[in-house]
Amino acid sequence: MAIWNLGSINADMVYALPHLPAPGETLAASGLQRFLGGKGANMSVAAARAGAHVRHIGAVGSDGLWARDRLTEYGVDTRHIAQVDQPTGHAIIAVDAQGENLIILFPGANHAIGADQVSAALTDSDTGDLLVFQNETTAQVEAAKLGRERGLTVCYAAAPFSAPAVQAVLPYLDFLILNEVEAAQLQQATGLAPADLPVEHVIVTLGSKGARYHQRGQVAAEFPAHKVKAVDTTGAGDTFTGYVLAGMDRGMPMAQAITQANRAAALMVMRPGTADVIPDLKEVREAALD
Ligand code: RIB
Ligand code: NA
Repeated sequence: MAIWNLGSINADMVYALPHLPAPGETLAASGLQRFLGGKGANMSVAAARAGAHVRHIGAVGSDGLWARDRLTEYGVDTRHIAQVDQPTGHAIIAVDAQGENLIILFPGANHAIGADQVSAALTDSDTGDLLVFQNETTAQVEAAKLGRERGLTVCYAAAPFSAPAVQAVLPYLDFLILNEVEAAQLQQATGLAPADLPVEHVIVTLGSKGARYHQRGQVAAEFPAHKVKAVDTTGAGDTFTGYVLAGMDRGMPMAQAITQANRAAALMVMRPGTADVIPDLKEVREAALD
């Protein structure tokens, strides 16, 4: 089976700062590094490193061909990444000494993905393939509908969170992942608690506490996170999602997929950077974690 990822691709500019800047403050960074990023690209790389066959649907500008090449190098199928007449998406990421972050996002080419591009790509999909998307690209609703029509398992990582964006795709979803605060916001908007959403699998992430999994009609299960010293939490959530999807795609029981994803996310929290530093399955299996 394959994972189809309609996903953002960004250049991540990661600035190391003593604290996150306050309004009006001028702050010197002690370091600057560029990584491949974007919630979409991070998920693609995570799922590929977890052993999945990943096909990315996205867009970059002429200044982002390195990002597409890097995804290819990381084992992601990039033939459905278009080159468009827009600057490549980028993110300015401030990380403080506690590993806390602040992100300024410029969508650029990620907002030039059309429904036609998605449907052309998905003509190659097979029933039972998995489709995932996040909230950093255009064409999400069209993708969700098409995915459902074609018999794909439709997965949504609701980040960056917007209740209306979730509501627009909710009828087509088989899988939804969001955090606790967002789950409460969605409940306010829809009147539905995670367990009551019309979605077979719902994962509510709990930050440093781990994750809660709701399968429709069943009692929720909790999976505690590993205790680690946070260096940079950026990309840890995307890594978690990518690992869960790779597990699902391979037919792993959800409990096992989440357990492995928690380990991958813990490693990711301990290292600066995004897609380029996502651990592979061997590292995830062998790491000594509390
Ligand atoms: O979730 C982390 C990601 O958010 C970064 O890679 C950045 O590009 C933004 O999309
Ligand atoms: Na990180």
